[in-house]
Amino acid sequence: MKGKNGTSGAKISGIGYYVPEKVITNFDLEKMVDTSDEWIVSRSGIRERRVVSAEEASSDMAHHASREALREAGLKPRDIDLIIVGTVTPDMPLPSTGCILQDRLGAKKAAALDLSAACSGFVYSLAVAQSMIGMGKVEKVLVVGVETLSRIIDWKDRKTCVLFGDGAGAVVVEKAPAGSGILGTFMQSDGTLGELLYVPGGGSRRPLDEKGLREGLQYVKMKGDGLFKYAVRAMVGAAQASLDQAGLAVEDVDYLIPHQANIRIIEGVRRRLKLKHEQMVINIDRIGNTSSASIPIALGELNEQGRLKDGDLVLLVAFGGGLTWGSVLFRR
Ligand SMILES: CC(C)(COP(=O)(O)OP(=O)(O)OC[C@H]1O[C@@H](n2cnc3c(N)ncnc32)[C@H](O)[C@@H]1OP(=O)(O)O)[C@@H](O)C(=O)NCCC(=O)NCCS
Repeated sequence: MKGKNGTSGAKISGIGYYVPEKVITNFDLEKMVDTSDEWIVSRSGIRERRVVSAEEASSDMAHHASREALREAGLKPRDIDLIIVGTVTPDMPLPSTGCILQDRLGAKKAAALDLSAACSGFVYSLAVAQSMIGMGKVEKVLVVGVETLSRIIDWKDRKTCVLFGDGAGAVVVEKAPAGSGILGTFMQSDGTLGELLYVPGGGSRRPLDEKGLREGLQYVKMKGDGLFKYAVRAMVGAAQASLDQAGLAVEDVDYLIPHQANIRIIEGVRRRLKLKHEQMVINIDRIGNTSSASIPIALGELNEQGRLKDGDLVLLVAFGGGLTWGSVLFRR
């Protein structure tokens, strides 16, 4: 789905992120499951990941990241018209993490909702925010990607527990002159491949009972090699779609921020798009795969390091369970 630009444009005016303090290294994991630092680094590029404390949940991390994004935008929570939280690890099924975040922030006039698109959650949410602004429905949107994956991972399953981490990123998106800010968006899904990455229990199909818990239905199930096959092609196609929409070429891009699932996928995307290493924003070694939070955390770090300059052209490209994939192209 190409996000046709509406009459008004939308720009990112504030960026924030948060990662929990606790670090789990590959060497820590060696003591928990039958794995090795060498295997994890060579297959995924991950050296360590962050995980929440017993007291923390998604809305807490989202709150930290959102406050930072609002501060950079120079806005108060009550200025926000709409809150969209991309997550598959909400605090609870009801109310939405968006509503919990609205309450924490005191964003009194906002509508709030969650958007479930797995690792594409942030890019999808940003595309929806841009469309809502383009249609003239809202002027100021808070977009968050947040995940507490450590709560839905089986820490005894070496095929998944070595890959994921927790964190949050947020941006403020505001009405801007047409042709500035967000220049292209793209979203696509393929529900026929849902079983490559899913959590079978805890929903209306298989509410969790003792039997389900014993079977581990509350945990992420992943067919990593199956996902790998689609990831590079889907991400390259998504990147190209946003560039085409904006009438720009890959040579114009200053930074590509890919979803951080696997360094080999990221490298495959880089090579196919003929980008230089320094154009890629990569933090998978320190942060792991934080699903919908991975792109806004990487964007937040880029901004914090002072590397994101006014006028830079940035391409965000996501791929994840569903399957879902998409991209957002914006000028800072
Ligand atoms: C998960 C992933 C890193 C695995 O890498 P891979 O090269 O495909 O490895 P394989 O799955 O072929 O596993 C190879 C072997 O390593 C073993 N293995 C798996 N996890 C292991 C671990 N943590 N430590 C040691 N060995 C491990 C497997 O059991 C398998 O052994 P077997 O052949 O005896 O069964 C990779 O497939 C991947 O990143 N996939 C995409 C992930 C993704 O995109 N996620 C969703 C989007 S967010």
